[in-house]
Amino acid sequence: MDKYVINGGHRLEGRIHIGGAKNAAVAIIPATILAGDVCRLENLPNISDVNVISKILQELGAKVTRINKSTLEIDPRHINTYEAQHDLVKNMRASYYLLGALLGRFGKARVPMPGGCYFGVRPIDLHLKGFEALGAKAKVASGGMVQLDSEKLIGSHIYLDVVSVGATINIILAAVKARGLTVLENAAREPHIVDLANFLNSMGADIRGAGTDVIKIRGVESLGGATYSIIPDQIEAGTYMAAAAATGGDVLIENVTPKHLESITTKLVELGAKVEEFDDAVRVSRTQPLLKCNVKTMPHPGFPTDMQPQLAVLLAVGNGTSIVTEGVWDNRFQYVDELRKMGANASVNGKIAIFEGVKKLTGAPVRATDLRAGAAMIIAALIAEGTTEIEQIYHIERGYEDIVEKLRAVGADIKKIEDYSADTDSMSS
Ligand code: UD1
Repeated sequence: MDKYVINGGHRLEGRIHIGGAKNAAVAIIPATILAGDVCRLENLPNISDVNVISKILQELGAKVTRINKSTLEIDPRHINTYEAQHDLVKNMRASYYLLGALLGRFGKARVPMPGGCYFGVRPIDLHLKGFEALGAKAKVASGGMVQLDSEKLIGSHIYLDVVSVGATINIILAAVKARGLTVLENAAREPHIVDLANFLNSMGADIRGAGTDVIKIRGVESLGGATYSIIPDQIEAGTYMAAAAATGGDVLIENVTPKHLESITTKLVELGAKVEEFDDAVRVSRTQPLLKCNVKTMPHPGFPTDMQPQLAVLLAVGNGTSIVTEGVWDNRFQYVDELRKMGANASVNGKIAIFEGVKKLTGAPVRATDLRAGAAMIIAALIAEGTTEIEQIYHIERGYEDIVEKLRAVGADIKKIEDYSADTDSMSS
């Protein structure tokens, strides 16, 4: 098991380049299954989630060629199965996009129930209802294999009774080649939904309204290939913005879409940071003491749940009492126990956490309980007095490319220790 070792107390100063959006990439790669020709995807983040979903496509028969660190070419024309049996599929939440993509291409799909970060029940009932509305029969067989079968997919009017990113994307994937018009109401509006729609439209799809809560998809006979550049990662950017503000630093965060960061910017400013916006960069600095604020997570354009743990670190050392309300997931406060090990004064009651700001955090051994919780541990370690060791960093590496290098370049004292249990064993023997 690898770990990060961080000596806190260094302000971050300099520039950080943001990579492509994880959540767009893990939807757009499976979407290439629908393509009729080669797709070239640029600005992909170099993270394990992207590597895993690319391997899954290869297992299905796609030819995947790495052109460089951030570019893949995918030729999906030789995919000849609608069954994704590989073990990798079970361990990745976003593998549920294989359902929509395989159903859209073959009219059938066999995909095991997805894994991924655990923060409460993560059902896929809305995805299945959407597929059924398009004419598929959906069944979850014993062992958790999801089976979809259809004679012909036909456009339909679908209302999501919960705003779901995954269901919105999956319904788009299944409807893009269905016969006639699909109208999806109460759709999610996240930037990566717009990115997926733009990608599919660049291959010849007819999708309108992505980014609003009504999306209209007129089915087309076939799709071609495309060259497409993924949008910058809103959450990676937000994480470094929070780190810059937490350390009282001054960091130019480049290759971002400032509009996607507005809800994060608003909270950082409320906490006493300064945020300057440029065309494709934001500069975050802080010279004033950290204040307090309340935050409630909501679907886009609300404050993103995937930034909740990182922001909470600032609240843990803010001046006063802050209340965090989690409005998306049932159980997204597991990291609070880890923050307490570092001296935070926080309590959790269901979907609400209360932070009484303390003067300082102190280094301690902690765990990354999931991807964004891990990012929060890094920020906490950067401002803590002394040394913090973070375990279970595989969660972090699912979603942050070159995080050690990026942080070291702006002055952090962070290193990765690889396979330390093996080291310890050899030392003790
Ligand atoms: C995506 C993101 C994840 C983020 C989440 C919310 C990806 C790969 N992951 O996850 O990082 O935290 O959006 O912004 O993009 N729900 C149902 N039934 C369903 C589907 C969802 O009740 O069939 C509920 C969920 O339990 C949750 C809420 O809807 O309470 C939102 O979930 P959803 O937007 O679907 O999250 P994901 O797409 O899984």
